[in-house]
Amino acid sequence: LSNGLALTPPMGFSSWNQFGDQITEQLFHETIDTMASNGLRDAGFIYINLDDGWQHYKGNRSQNPLEPDPVKFPSGMKALADYAHSKGFKLGIYSGPGDSTCAGYTGSLGHEQEDANMFASWGIDHLKYDSCCSEGIDAPTPEVQAIVLKMSKALLSTNRSIVYHACHCGWANIWEWAASEGANQWRIGQDISDDFNYPGNREKYYFDVLDMLDRGNNITQYSGPGHWNDYDMLIVGLDGNSSQLVGTGASNLEYRTHFSMWCMVASPLLIGSDVRTLSTYDLQTLTNSEVIEVSQDPLGEAAQVVGTQDPGGDLQVYAKAMADGSYAVALLNRGPVTADMSISARRDLTMPWDRYRLRDLWKHKEHGCYDIPYTIEVMPHEAKMLRLWQVDKNATAYTVWNLKLEA
Ligand code: DGJ
Repeated sequence: LSNGLALTPPMGFSSWNQFGDQITEQLFHETIDTMASNGLRDAGFIYINLDDGWQHYKGNRSQNPLEPDPVKFPSGMKALADYAHSKGFKLGIYSGPGDSTCAGYTGSLGHEQEDANMFASWGIDHLKYDSCCSEGIDAPTPEVQAIVLKMSKALLSTNRSIVYHACHCGWANIWEWAASEGANQWRIGQDISDDFNYPGNREKYYFDVLDMLDRGNNITQYSGPGHWNDYDMLIVGLDGNSSQLVGTGASNLEYRTHFSMWCMVASPLLIGSDVRTLSTYDLQTLTNSEVIEVSQDPLGEAAQVVGTQDPGGDLQVYAKAMADGSYAVALLNRGPVTADMSISARRDLTMPWDRYRLRDLWKHKEHGCYDIPYTIEVMPHEAKMLRLWQVDKNATAYTVWNLKLEA
């Protein structure tokens, strides 16, 4: 949506994956306080998004007003937005185009402009508008378009900058028509499950991390500044016992790979776990500045698979161009055994570089200068995150190191 917003993928927190509709004002205050002090806000996670379940009534908009649940949110939404803003955050809210939302709460049907105005008057900065249980669910494209555009126009005619997420319009190929007038982000598929690779879920509606990546790979060209393919909220650090999502859980390394890949494909980065109980490892995963730089690069490219390095297709090379002329690369091992993978500027990036400098983004470490392919061992379900810059053909690790010291 050309509203000048979301020029890089939105980053923040969303309540659904961990908490479902069990959300309260106190949870949001504690989330804000925690993110302000544990480094997440300063790493860029500034959108604090209420998902479904903040509303007072179940269903039936013709009889019920849309208002916050007075028990869950006794101080109301304006007060919560003020609190978020006072701590350097933005506040997001949730509604849908139907009579009721997916979890059965009151929707915006017939009250779109009124609701947009109300959200603006509260100081809301982001709206997730979720079509999954609306009348539009199996509607042909023009009807879905009408639903999405109605709310985008309503938001634009408020005097507030509100990022617009149109959720669950994938069946209408929303990416093909929503870039300029539709939305700032759109989900590319159904809900993620708390799994890295668990084929059993596929028939049961949910997508694991690898399913989501495969789903997005053919539509990367539709993503860009102001209009992003949304691979769904992050599962990093979910507590399987109380999470809203199905799934078997994932290892620390798998969560890190998932985060790396969401940065590569320029998906919005909305933390779905309880930030108050994140482990040190998961917090380090979510705050790695060099990996986040790949996500927030102003060029806004979404990485694509540029090569596979085994017959079965388990060893994938993803690459994306960065605004400074460098390339970000992920060497992704989807398979069950450790493998050698390699990267070459000429072969994988088709860049006629005689020599390139290579850096490991997770380790914050220079790997030196190469003219031949660089080979590295990648563990099962690991993604090595690398960045390559062209350098002078005589450059050595030493000269690059010296240049950096001079700069
Ligand atoms: C379906 C969406 O995919 C979820 O992310 C969540 O917003 C629920 N609806 C809420 O009911």
